[in-house]
Amino acid sequence: MVEAVLSKRRSLGNTGETISAIALGTWGIRNENDAFTTLVKGVELGLNTIDTAEMYGSGRAEELVGRVVKHVGRDSVFLITKMLPDRLKSRYDVLKHGRAALRRLGVDEVDLYLIHWPNPTLSIQEQVKNFESLIDEGLTRYIGVSNFDESELVEAINSTKKADIVLNQVHYSVLRKEIEEALLPTALKHHVTIQAYTPLERGEVLRHPKLVEISTRINKPVVQIALNYVIREPYLAAVVKTENVKHLEEIAQTLEWGLTPDLIEVLRKL
Ligand SMILES: NC(=O)c1ccc[n+]([C@@H]2O[C@H](COP(=O)([O-])OP(=O)(O)OC[C@H]3O[C@@H](n4cnc5c(N)ncnc54)[C@H](OP(=O)(O)O)[C@@H]3O)[C@@H](O)[C@H]2O)c1
Repeated sequence: MVEAVLSKRRSLGNTGETISAIALGTWGIRNENDAFTTLVKGVELGLNTIDTAEMYGSGRAEELVGRVVKHVGRDSVFLITKMLPDRLKSRYDVLKHGRAALRRLGVDEVDLYLIHWPNPTLSIQEQVKNFESLIDEGLTRYIGVSNFDESELVEAINSTKKADIVLNQVHYSVLRKEIEEALLPTALKHHVTIQAYTPLERGEVLRHPKLVEISTRINKPVVQIALNYVIREPYLAAVVKTENVKHLEEIAQTLEWGLTPDLIEVLRKL
């Protein structure tokens, strides 16, 4: 399975680097021991991109990810974290909170730092300018955004001076396709990777009658159908959360097969 997982990676903006098609999420962790075991196993299976945020567990998720990174080795993980929009008012605040996050993660730099969602009290230009200080000071290798709509993304892309916006992490699933209208084509045109969060709708996909019917017909789990839909192209990736090794294995097996163009069309119209 590891070979299949490692061969299915997704482009990260124009960087020439790739991330796992499916990253491991850390929101709403119920049991830290189970989450630790699952994250370590996920990295071993080749799902070696981990997504966290200072908001998750008020810093506890970053600390947990720090323990995982220490266990598997820094070079084995592509590390993504996210900064709260309130921090973006000044360069000073961005660096202060960025350094605090790196301390919790136990690393010198992350691979990708995202603005968790736009700060409505600041211009996009101002927030991107302040956020770019993370690049100046070497706290991250790349920057990106999350929950930016089409116009906010374009403004962010046009505001950068030091580094490109390489990724926008947004809510996207086979049951929530709003981004397909405008955001998705615009992001792809600019080579900004779209990373779909909540791709299983926290379990809702498992109960969807049409998805269950397709699953029975093609003899593949609903979870794998739902995930394969949102990662069907080179600039489309996903981030999914599990604390259950059986669930993790089912998730990883998504990368052992792909949807036919006909099935993609059926799912597009769902
Ligand atoms: N940028 C943002 O604003 C934002 C917002 C939300 C989420 N995110 C990120 O995206 C990640 C994923 O999103 P999410 O946690 O909201 O939702 P999700 O990944 O769609 O769903 C997670 C839920 O699905 C269950 N699950 C996972 N694999 C399963 C399987 N094979 N069979 C049955 N159930 C399964 C998990 O339970 P078990 O643990 O029991 O497996 C968990 O309850 C988050 O953890 C976070 O890192 C980002």
